[in-house]
Amino acid sequence: MNIGNVIMTKRKELGLTQQALADKLHVSFQAVSKWEKGVSYPEIELLPIIAGVLNTSSDALLGYEFKTHGYYDDRYKEDEYYWGIQPNEICYEIMKMKPPVKPLKVLDIGCGEGKDAVFFARNGYEVTAFDLSIDGIEKGKRLAEKFGVNVDFFQADLNDYRLKENYDIIFSSGVFDYMRPEFRTEITEHLKEHTNEEGLNAIKVFVDKPFIEVNDKNKKVNRYPWKSGEIFTYYHDWELFRMDEVIFDCNSGGMPHKHCIDIMIAKKYR
Ligand SMILES: C[S@@+](CC[C@H](N)C(=O)[O-])C[C@H]1O[C@@H](n2cnc3c(N)ncnc32)[C@H](O)[C@@H]1O
Repeated sequence: MNIGNVIMTKRKELGLTQQALADKLHVSFQAVSKWEKGVSYPEIELLPIIAGVLNTSSDALLGYEFKTHGYYDDRYKEDEYYWGIQPNEICYEIMKMKPPVKPLKVLDIGCGEGKDAVFFARNGYEVTAFDLSIDGIEKGKRLAEKFGVNVDFFQADLNDYRLKENYDIIFSSGVFDYMRPEFRTEITEHLKEHTNEEGLNAIKVFVDKPFIEVNDKNKKVNRYPWKSGEIFTYYHDWELFRMDEVIFDCNSGGMPHKHCIDIMIAKKYR
């Protein structure tokens, strides 16, 4: 698909007219019409803005297919929930710190099959969740349906998706090592900016330890483990509630191995 077709498809999916899209982009509707007919292309600086309005990424506009992470896609295709459906222990801690006594927005980055997103929704939070794996997203939707809750699940790549609104809680478990190192500063700043005052960022990120061997070569694809303690430094100007480093045994993929993970809960000052 060329860029014009992608714009037209996404525009229609959102129920926008050419004029409505043009208004949002501060261009003429003739410009939108020309892009869609393939007569001209949008200026390159407009790409991230168009992507933002159309709820997609610049890569997707350019027809670049999501490079799904085969390792997880294969596992998420099974009926069984690879990560189970019990929430991560940190979700209870987050709930204690920010109980849903008023409407609170949660974002789960790299939600996998949606167990944590659905847990938050079942407890009354307004939840948005994305993952690179479409199979994971589909299972998340089914889990939400099973429990009769609503979660805004969608597919996106954390490396190029940019937030359109603020959240009270931004949560991510076991995913930040898929963030390309050159984007770490920009993305963490972006997440911090899009957190409401007194909101939380709760992140669990795999870190490198020289004495822990990564035994699964597949998992190394597009993975960039962080340095021990590195995540905390990005939040030096927030109140740090939890800064732990844990080494644990794991049996995912049927092969016993170890991981090291840094766990952070940070609160934005008022
Ligand atoms: C270790 S799993 C964690 C899943 C979930 N957070 C959980 O705790 O159950 C890592 C997840 O990151 C997702 N992922 C990998 N690369 C990603 C990317 N670039 N953008 C968004 N999600 C990504 C994978 O599809 C997978 O679901």
